[in-house]
Amino acid sequence: MKIPQGSLEAPGAILGLGPSARSTVPAFIVMDVMEAAAAREAQGHKVIHMEVGQPGTPAPRAALDAVRRALDRETLGYTVALGLPALRARIAEHYRRQYGVHVSPDRVVVTTGSSAGFVLAFLALFDAGDAVGLPSPGYPCYRHILTTLGQAPAMIVTNAAGRWMPTADQIDDAARRDRIKGLVIASPANPTGTMLDGSRLADIVAACRRHGIWLIADEIYHGLTYGPHEETALAHSPDAVVINSFSKYFSMTGWRIGWLVVPERLVRPIERLAQNLYISPPTVAQVAAIGAFDGIDELEANKRVYAENRALLLEALPKAGLGRILPADGAFYLYADVSEFTTDSVAFTKEMLHDLGIAATPGVDFDAERGSRYVRFCYAGTTADVAEAARRLGGWERLRRVG
Ligand SMILES: Cc1ncc(COP(=O)(O)O)c(C=O)c1O
Repeated sequence: MKIPQGSLEAPGAILGLGPSARSTVPAFIVMDVMEAAAAREAQGHKVIHMEVGQPGTPAPRAALDAVRRALDRETLGYTVALGLPALRARIAEHYRRQYGVHVSPDRVVVTTGSSAGFVLAFLALFDAGDAVGLPSPGYPCYRHILTTLGQAPAMIVTNAAGRWMPTADQIDDAARRDRIKGLVIASPANPTGTMLDGSRLADIVAACRRHGIWLIADEIYHGLTYGPHEETALAHSPDAVVINSFSKYFSMTGWRIGWLVVPERLVRPIERLAQNLYISPPTVAQVAAIGAFDGIDELEANKRVYAENRALLLEALPKAGLGRILPADGAFYLYADVSEFTTDSVAFTKEMLHDLGIAATPGVDFDAERGSRYVRFCYAGTTADVAEAARRLGGWERLRRVG
């Protein structure tokens, strides 16, 4: 066959080669909003970023100092696949200090962000075709990672009556109807910010035990609560698989470092997967993470800013007309029902960006069915920006127009 010259893509197209079916995973829409915001900034407009769930602050100084020292003195080669022993020990110590729960460092697996933790956990726990219960609304990548791995998300549609968290009855139903092998929960949750109290968590643990279902608890927003205290699933079950990260409370999104706590019998299978898939988590980020535990005062100061921003928005949004906000116990999000104004949250957030220079995320990322009636605001930026956003929303003519 004669292959045409001049285009790198042409030969594959001629041979009928194309991407795999599994790679047709949907986009993470918040990233598309970021792109639209960046295009507006490139035209010289100021944009207030309330779309991406990340702190506006850098890693704590103690983390940066640890890295500076390591850059001068260490080779920073691969580490063992489960992570630096000193970091695993420091994470185990975190459970003792923070929750009074004993966790052996041997059960801690350091990962490339919690995102890699999900891949490792889903591969270690489930086979292709296995169904896994996911709350809706919820973080979209759970769904997308599962489908990419050939596993089957089974959506559990939460509601106001259940405080936007799966109930034990719903888990019973999903176990019977969808034969789920696992359940993912997040408390505080993204996008709602709602939390499970201790008794709800105990009910969920009991339901999972009843049906022989793995519980995967995404605790990435732990440390960011504004009233109720968060409980780790490990306090209720040594069999829970806990996923956490340095991205949010520790203000280290770009360092790509997180961790799992898993039952002992999963450590070796996950170690083998991690060796083959990633070799080891980034060494420099592991060094930073050890240092981050000495930066708690700075991180608590960041959290006070989020608390102030949250209070400011909880007062300003209802005055602006956005009064239907889900109970925001933690994380750094407000999830607002905008159905009085639109049935198309994607178009609505585009108007918001165009008219006000505020980037927010349409709910369709988090909830395929009802998300077109919701918008998520992230308040992890500066208080000056959040106050300015509140002022602009207060004067937005669009919020006086119904439909
Ligand atoms: C609920 C939840 N889990 C996991 C992640 C992934 O975070 P990372 O991979 O940075 O740890 C995010 C990111 O926004 C999230 O909101």
